[in-house]
Amino acid sequence: MSYDRVHIFEALRPGRWAVCAIGIGLLAGCQGGGVNAPAPPTGETVSLSGDIQPIFNSACVSCHADGTISSAFGNPLRLTSGRAHANLVDRRSFQSANWTLVVPGDSSASLLWLKVSRADPPVGSTMPLFGSPLSSRQLGLIRDWIDQGALDN
Ligand code: HEC
Repeated sequence: MSYDRVHIFEALRPGRWAVCAIGIGLLAGCQGGGVNAPAPPTGETVSLSGDIQPIFNSACVSCHADGTISSAFGNPLRLTSGRAHANLVDRRSFQSANWTLVVPGDSSASLLWLKVSRADPPVGSTMPLFGSPLSSRQLGLIRDWIDQGALDN
């Protein structure tokens, strides 16, 4: 091997380690890790506008709104204020015709619930994608909102 070749190889080595480290980091991030256990039902009536929409605003609309990166990749679900109810309740998943996003009164049949509460949802990834998992309280509110009939309240 000529001196030049060795030199180039040595120069590239730190770069390769950096690429590796980023790769491992992404892999770990993409796996998402665990999700929190949902808080038990409180028996209080959950409000879409008062309890659920603020969760969507803080954790979801960065991707689930017009003009976001994820919408540019063909994800049609909009969770912005005034649109979330119509886009979720009794609506089919755009990825799988076998699933409905929200079945009023039945969280266990609702893909929205399975995607926020399970590390291995039946379709696609755990939501919020790439973000911290929702808190126990936030999960409890979403489950109870669905089980209380997914009202537009
Ligand atoms: C970083 C971007 C991003 C964030 C943040 C995000 N999502 Fe998503 N979401 C996506 C993408 C991309 C898809 C389609 C691929 C998939 O399901 O994994 C998707 C799909 C979904 C679907 C399934 C839609 C269908 O028709 O099948 C639901 C439900 C959903 N997201 C809910 C949420 C909720 C609730 C939050 C907030 C708690 C959230 N998402 C946060 C990017 C995101």
